[in-house]
Amino acid sequence: TMLPLLLLLLAAAHGLERIDYMPTLAGPDLGGRLTGSTFVLEQPRCAFDADIYSEAEIWLVVSTAEATDLFNDSAQPGSQEWAFQRFPNNTSAYLTLGTAQYHYPCPGDPGEITVLRVGSETACANDVARPTCNGPLPGPGPYRVKFLALNNSTPVADTYWSDPITLNKAQQPPRSSGMVDGRHSGGMIVITTLLSILLAVLLAALLATLCSSDPCNGSFSQHTASIQRYNTHHVCEQTAAQL
Ligand SMILES: *[C@@H]1O[C@H](CO)[C@@H](O)[C@H](O)[C@H]1NC(C)=O
Ligand SMILES: *[C@@H]1O[C@H](CO)[C@@H](O)[C@H](O)[C@H]1NC(C)=O
Ligand SMILES: *[C@@H]1O[C@H](CO)[C@@H](O)[C@H](O)[C@H]1NC(C)=O
Ligand SMILES: *[C@@H]1O[C@H](CO)[C@@H](O)[C@H](O)[C@H]1NC(C)=O
Repeated sequence: TMLPLLLLLLAAAHGLERIDYMPTLAGPDLGGRLTGSTFVLEQPRCAFDADIYSEAEIWLVVSTAEATDLFNDSAQPGSQEWAFQRFPNNTSAYLTLGTAQYHYPCPGDPGEITVLRVGSETACANDVARPTCNGPLPGPGPYRVKFLALNNSTPVADTYWSDPITLNKAQQPPRSSGMVDGRHSGGMIVITTLLSILLAVLLAALLATLCSSDPCNGSFSQHTASIQRYNTHHVCEQTAAQL
């Protein structure tokens, strides 16, 4: 009979309340597009009770999906231990997008921005002086995220971890120069081919226009030779004269 009481006391001592909320990706209607290095979450509006957490800061924890157990809720935002720049090789998670609880009010004005784009800050990605940088995700993941409420640096509440989030592999930021070269040359080939076809079509259209009044019926090489030699206005006459 003492056990439930003991567990209750332990939970109270731990002091971290689990909020019944799971972070979710924003749908396409909210602009929730996945890229190779960003994803869009719904803001945790209404999740943290304003009466209890009015003084709290809400932070987003981004973890590799397989290592959420390694995250320590006592993690301090801005510490090197949980810095974006060390993720994912030297830390399993980082804290970012910290903001006062009142920035996540219950839905109010329609038209308000109600999403968070994770990975949108490229400028601080390599700046170790900005450990809470909301930098581009370093790969396709998968990742899992949760919100953590800190009251004067003390963790007071957290949400459930999200489902695993996997980013697009195709648009992943390049990791090796080989990949870049490969992709660029592929793109170049496509562009060059399209331009060649366009040029051929334009040339054919030009010749067709110039020769619409019949006299031209020579071969293609004669036309091109004529264009090189004479003013284009007289291409048809000259070609006809040659025949
Ligand atoms: C979490 O971090 C706190 C403060 O740094 C430390 O006292 C505690 O032992 C850590 N907990 C675990 C499970 O590592
Ligand atoms: C991880 O730490 C090692 C050794 O300190 C360093 O060489 C490496 O660049 C670090 N990786 C990241 C992603 O910070
Ligand atoms: C992270 O570790 C992997 C595997 O050890 C390695 O291939 C990669 O280059 C490392 N990345 C950084 C930024 O250190
Ligand atoms: C947050 O801290 C303040 C002042 O330290 C305290 O009065 C308040 O009860 C704390 N809130 C929570 C949710 O712990």
